[in-house]
Amino acid sequence: MAVPLDQNIAGEQCAITTYRGLRDAAKDHDMATYNEALTILEQEVEHDEDLQSLRESLDLMVERDSK
Ligand SMILES: [Fe+2]
Repeated sequence: MAVPLDQNIAGEQCAITTYRGLRDAAKDHDMATYNEALTILEQEVEHDEDLQSLRESLDLMVERDSK
């Protein structure tokens, strides 16, 4: 069973895929949409990095406490 943190990480990665697709589809056709998708994509990447960092810290804490 996935824990909520892992589900949130999966959600961020889904958002990254979605906004990357929107950015690529808008490129050379709709600069306003392209720029908005790029801004949101950068935010989603930051969210993913933050949650991945939290996941690593929690894993280290669990590993340390199990010794
Ligand atoms: Fe997000």
